[in-house]
Amino acid sequence: MTNARKAEIARLIESGDWIHVAGSRKTIKEHEYYPIVADLLDLNEVQALKDFRHHIVTNRLQHSLNVSYYNYRLCRLLRLDAESAARAGLLHDLYDYDTKRYTSGVHGLRHSAYHPMVALERAESIVPINDRERDMIVKHMWPVTPARPKYAETYVLTFVDKYCAVIEFLLPQPRRLHSWIKKRRSERKEKRREKAMMRSLNIS
Ligand SMILES: [Fe+2]
Ligand SMILES: [Fe+2]
Repeated sequence: MTNARKAEIARLIESGDWIHVAGSRKTIKEHEYYPIVADLLDLNEVQALKDFRHHIVTNRLQHSLNVSYYNYRLCRLLRLDAESAARAGLLHDLYDYDTKRYTSGVHGLRHSAYHPMVALERAESIVPINDRERDMIVKHMWPVTPARPKYAETYVLTFVDKYCAVIEFLLPQPRRLHSWIKKRRSERKEKRREKAMMRSLNIS
């Protein structure tokens, strides 16, 4: 990477214009995908997803962006409706509660069955949703939930959603492993130093 490119990335990060997806070092703002979802990303309801932790290691907005982007890429590759795939991907988890605090007793439904319905209802209240997008949002938990997808795009989204959950969890692991090893090494070094000091004190 050239120094000019590094400086450009630093500038974008500084201005808040750096939007990326898991597994990529590029900003999606420079990708043909971005204009398809730009209006959705401007909505407060979508931005608010940033405040919720998702899949332990990320937030709900980042997860939704990951699903949206990869759903777009895969549907485009398969010559499916990639634009609907991008938009539905961004809205598929548009629910506004903390998953950890959800108790099925409240609505008589498990979170896996309940949150796609909340997401669809909220999505329909803020933007027009077509039939494909509706199917993708409300059935994205298939086969955990029984309703079968009506469209090929929905099958793709169910796969991409799970794929993203896996990469979101695994990608930061090398960094964590590295810092864990570093910590263990410095702990061992400290213990050796203490032992050496104790030995020298006994001797004297
Ligand atoms: Fe979901
Ligand atoms: Fe999801």
